[in-house]
Amino acid sequence: MARGQTRMFLKQMFKDPGKTGAVMPSSRKLARRMYELAAPEPDSVIAEYGPGTGAFTRVILGNLQPGQKFFCVEINPDFAARLKRDFPGAPVHIGCASNIAEYARLEGVGRVDRVISGLPWAVFPDELQNRILSAMADIMPKGGVFVTFAYLQGLVLPSGRRFGKNLGKYFSACGKSEIIWENLPPAIVYRCEK
Ligand SMILES: C[S@@+](CC[C@H](N)C(=O)[O-])C[C@H]1O[C@@H](n2cnc3c(N)ncnc32)[C@H](O)[C@@H]1O
Repeated sequence: MARGQTRMFLKQMFKDPGKTGAVMPSSRKLARRMYELAAPEPDSVIAEYGPGTGAFTRVILGNLQPGQKFFCVEINPDFAARLKRDFPGAPVHIGCASNIAEYARLEGVGRVDRVISGLPWAVFPDELQNRILSAMADIMPKGGVFVTFAYLQGLVLPSGRRFGKNLGKYFSACGKSEIIWENLPPAIVYRCEK
């Protein structure tokens, strides 16, 4: 992993811990498992929330098929600038994932079939968790899939437990993956279907 990415995470974590939520980017193993569980279809519209330095973006772009559409939503302009530099093919919208309807409209699409999220849910207040999940559920058709990860220690925090419960309000089926030990810290992936 490029040392510059970890340096950037540490800097952003000190600047804004409530949005960054991690001191280093996700591992390739976690990125691959997230993508496998999202399992986009040949005509899927795929949105990535909170790409940071692009750990998941790299895997998504590497697998992108001609009939699919992909865009990212990143709230931190510093991460967004780096992402645009490192992945010139990826459209990046700067703002909050709760505004997904507006970004989809700008991309010329009326639905999002797959959301691959790196958002730090466990540091979000309940209101923000619900605002983002509700906007996602509104734009996702039945059968759409949302994947996101949680660090093991985050699962036992009150906000992490609250997130697990909130998922049930918006999705018909939710499951957890095995523990991905090859990530710092180890994590699980939530896979939810609308
Ligand atoms: C834990 S980092 C994950 C970065 C990357 N996906 C990874 O796994 O290495 C969280 C990312 O979510 C972004 N973020 C936080 N709140 C957001 C929001 N409301 N909308 C969009 N992005 C947000 C942060 O700026 C950061 O890039």
